[in-house]
Amino acid sequence: MYRTKNNGELRLADVGKQVTLCGWVQRSRDLGGMTFVDLRDRYGITQIVFNMETDAALCGKARELGREYVVQIKGTVAERSNKNAKIPTGDIEILATEITVLNPSKIPPFTIENHSDGGDELRMKYRYLDLRRDCVRQNLVLRHRLSIEIRKYMDEQGFMEIETPFMVKSTPEGARDFVVPSRMNPGEFYALPQSPQQYKQLLMVAGMDRYFQIVRCFRDEDLRADRQPEFTQLDCEMSFVEQEDVLQMFEGLMRHLFKVEKNIDLPPLQRMTWQTAMDKYGSDKPDLRFGMEFHALKEVFPQGKFSLFDQSEWVGGICVEGASEYTRKQLDELTDFVKRPQVGAGGLIYIKCNTDGTYKSSVDKFFDADDLKRVAEACGAKAGDLILILAGKASKTKVSLGQLRLEMGNRLNLRDPFNYKVLWIVDFPLLEWDEEAGRFFAMHHPFTAPKPEDEAMLETEPGKVRANAYDMVINGVEVGGGSIRIHSRDLQKRMFRALGFSDEEAQKQFGFLMNAFEYGAPPHGGLAFGFDRLCALFGGEDSIRDYIAFPKNNAGRDTMSESPSPISQAQLDELFLKSTAEKRD
Ligand code: AMO
Repeated sequence: MYRTKNNGELRLADVGKQVTLCGWVQRSRDLGGMTFVDLRDRYGITQIVFNMETDAALCGKARELGREYVVQIKGTVAERSNKNAKIPTGDIEILATEITVLNPSKIPPFTIENHSDGGDELRMKYRYLDLRRDCVRQNLVLRHRLSIEIRKYMDEQGFMEIETPFMVKSTPEGARDFVVPSRMNPGEFYALPQSPQQYKQLLMVAGMDRYFQIVRCFRDEDLRADRQPEFTQLDCEMSFVEQEDVLQMFEGLMRHLFKVEKNIDLPPLQRMTWQTAMDKYGSDKPDLRFGMEFHALKEVFPQGKFSLFDQSEWVGGICVEGASEYTRKQLDELTDFVKRPQVGAGGLIYIKCNTDGTYKSSVDKFFDADDLKRVAEACGAKAGDLILILAGKASKTKVSLGQLRLEMGNRLNLRDPFNYKVLWIVDFPLLEWDEEAGRFFAMHHPFTAPKPEDEAMLETEPGKVRANAYDMVINGVEVGGGSIRIHSRDLQKRMFRALGFSDEEAQKQFGFLMNAFEYGAPPHGGLAFGFDRLCALFGGEDSIRDYIAFPKNNAGRDTMSESPSPISQAQLDELFLKSTAEKRD
């Protein structure tokens, strides 16, 4: 037997026991007469003591141990004189009687401690060492616990976990596909699924009634802190349901997860329409941990005094409490922030509501104190507050102001990661117009059902049709989204027409789903959660990377295995592919 105990379980009650432990040498300290070794494994750290007086040879051996050596230690559990309250095993230590080096280690490229000296890149290259760090390992432990709790809840609710294929047909719409060439079918490709959307709908046609899957999805899109090219969804679908049934079911799941993991009793989730979210927060995933809602100011400022406002479709502001003392430098920083291409505003206008009751603004030239007072009142601003204003095209300016709102939330520390604000966004538009392509795209996906009361506008005013679609948002992050699906072949055809597909094109791309709909598709709907995002939120972090065992970097690369990588000419030939070099010639 390699070990009788692990490094996280020994306590005072075990004093006197003979034990065998295995693990990695976290650290060793040589104090002349004594050598101390911290032995680490997945379960914790145990202090091992070697005494020069009792066994000089053994102590000498201990002194030769390097960091990350894998060792087996035999010894007796003893009470520690110098207790360490910071670790669960801190009351005891092991008086070593035997030591076996199971495997030596090269000096690791960074320290394997919570506060490591290794930069991001180095830690990713040696991810297996990074994963030895307690803080990273705990993230995977959290992920495991959440997946177990999800499976428990879904099983209790009668959902069946069914696997769907990873080699599927490439279909347009959505993000770019990752494709896989088929050797047996020259010139043809599979795609890796962006989600199991069509398969789960087919499972409903197949009568499975309640399906779920914790499943890998693949999307070739630009990466960000909350996006990976391969990520995991909790994917779900239910038959004979309306939107309300789906919302209730998954509100229940969230309540369960918050209760077991955080001991938080979630209140009934707020529901906000997409339109309200855009008008009040400039985002379809509003962060409700703080206020700073938008105030429409175009009608509040007097006309004819400032041409920018007169010419702008929308003028809106936020009131930042207690920020009237912002310095010139701070205001310049904010101006630079809104002018960044990612935010895209032309400039920033401010009104300081000074504590002495006066106003100071960047538009003093155009407006008098009464005008500014009226604006301050419209914004609910008190003495000591700062009003920040943007003007321009309505939809774009609201999004920019939404970004400024989040920036102010960050600056004022209003975004505590452990203060959870969970809500549903409902009534999304069915379609969104793409200027460049000159056509409508499905805002969620092409199988999403319009609201029955809006269906008649699909041909006449497609842009106004609302969908039976919903997102769950936690702290400004879209953690999940779904919809009630179209289950009638006719309506699905009309939807494809609205998206600019001819009947033939639609049949070619989505025929298998449309054909299935002719054999008795039940009314159905569902949603998918981003499981990595859910884990990061529960862990109180923005980046999903540390909740994935082997993530990709921002360029979509795995720097550890060095993928993607070129393949041999023989492989290319077998797949009837040309190398990039040839293509460029
Ligand atoms: P959607 O595309 O909204 O819906 O995806 C569902 C959820 O998956 C997460 N997510 C991601 N997480 C990490 N990295 C990514 N690149 C990434 N992309 C999406 C988000 C998102 O809310 N089939 C539909 C669901 C349905 O209608 O049932 C779908 O995939 O948290």
